[in-house]
Amino acid sequence: MSALFQPFKLKDIALRNRIAVPPMCQYSAIDGLINDWHMAHLTSLARGGAGLVIVEATAVSPEGRITPGDAGIWNDQLAQAFVPAVKAIKAAGAVPGIQIAHAGRKASANRPWEGDDHIANDDPRGWQTIAPSAIPFGGHLNKTPEAMSKKDIRRVQGDFVAAARRALDAGFEWLELHFAHGYLGQSFFSEHSNQRTDEYGGSAENRGRFLMETFAAVREVWPEHLPLTARFGVIEFDGRDEQTMADSIDLVKRMKAGGLDMLSVSIGFSTPEAKIPWAPAFMGPIAKRVRDEAGLPVSSAWGFGEPQIAQKAVEAAQLDLVMVGKAHLANPHWAYHAARELKIDRASWTLPAPYAHWLERY
Ligand SMILES: Cc1cc2nc3c(=O)[nH]c(=O)nc-3n(C[C@H](O)[C@H](O)[C@H](O)COP(=O)(O)O)c2cc1C
Repeated sequence: MSALFQPFKLKDIALRNRIAVPPMCQYSAIDGLINDWHMAHLTSLARGGAGLVIVEATAVSPEGRITPGDAGIWNDQLAQAFVPAVKAIKAAGAVPGIQIAHAGRKASANRPWEGDDHIANDDPRGWQTIAPSAIPFGGHLNKTPEAMSKKDIRRVQGDFVAAARRALDAGFEWLELHFAHGYLGQSFFSEHSNQRTDEYGGSAENRGRFLMETFAAVREVWPEHLPLTARFGVIEFDGRDEQTMADSIDLVKRMKAGGLDMLSVSIGFSTPEAKIPWAPAFMGPIAKRVRDEAGLPVSSAWGFGEPQIAQKAVEAAQLDLVMVGKAHLANPHWAYHAARELKIDRASWTLPAPYAHWLERY
């Protein structure tokens, strides 16, 4: 039996294989509202055969969007717009997941293909960003955020809780909190962005407080029988990696004790100075360390888009689920492609009948 095509069960949710589509922003919503583009995008990914399709970083408040084109879930109308996509993902045999997010000091930016840089506050398309401390990211994102008051912290945590409730109402069965990539959650954890002197800054425990509290508040409203996961950058590649990894794993252990079901192991992206050793599957050993030391199932992305590489990551017990991103944009039927490449027994994967009839012998 192929490791990649083995089913996977987490809580009451069964995935047909170990292939997952990670969240990928389409920057194509209007005022947070998704449209036909997202519907077609998500449906085709689910039909392609992945076990899990996670909807892009979806903002818990308007100020939490990375760009003006980000999807949002800050009111019921925005949440209900996901219902047809959720149904289509399920009808295609995949599990519908969603990542809920606040972009913090990286918010208010132009779309990647329109510059990726900050939109000025006096431009009507832009807005004032918030973060743990008034420190800009730097590089192309050099707007200074406003340091959050404790009232701001409570408000954003309430936004995450309300977003989780709405995601559940819309039918999502898998929830991922975006605590990675230099956005708000990650920026509380990282000393690059957090210089607070209150209980949310200083020690690793204090820097993890915003994440722990937000997680615990969401755990209370997200049902026990459905997976609650987080994406978190456990490493920055900034020369202080051993300490960051140790502190990160400690935080993950505490979240696990509070009911975290799985971690999507990622990169911090908290400083433009990071020296990231890009290579196929380079996050595999890092994910394995988190899996072994924190003792919970993990997934990861970044360069697992070759079927043999994805398969090996599961075989080597580095990953429980393999996130395949850009390769899915290149070929939404990536799972089918992988099954053929790996010469998987036809019984262990499925293709929708209108395609299967033609492609089984192809
Ligand atoms: C178009 C695009 C949008 C992305 N949007 C998100 C996002 O919304 N949330 C997130 O956590 N990562 C996001 N990422 C990162 C991907 O989830 C993934 O980690 C990355 O593409 C690396 O995996 P790959 O090498 O298989 O493409 C995005 C990546 C791409 C290419």
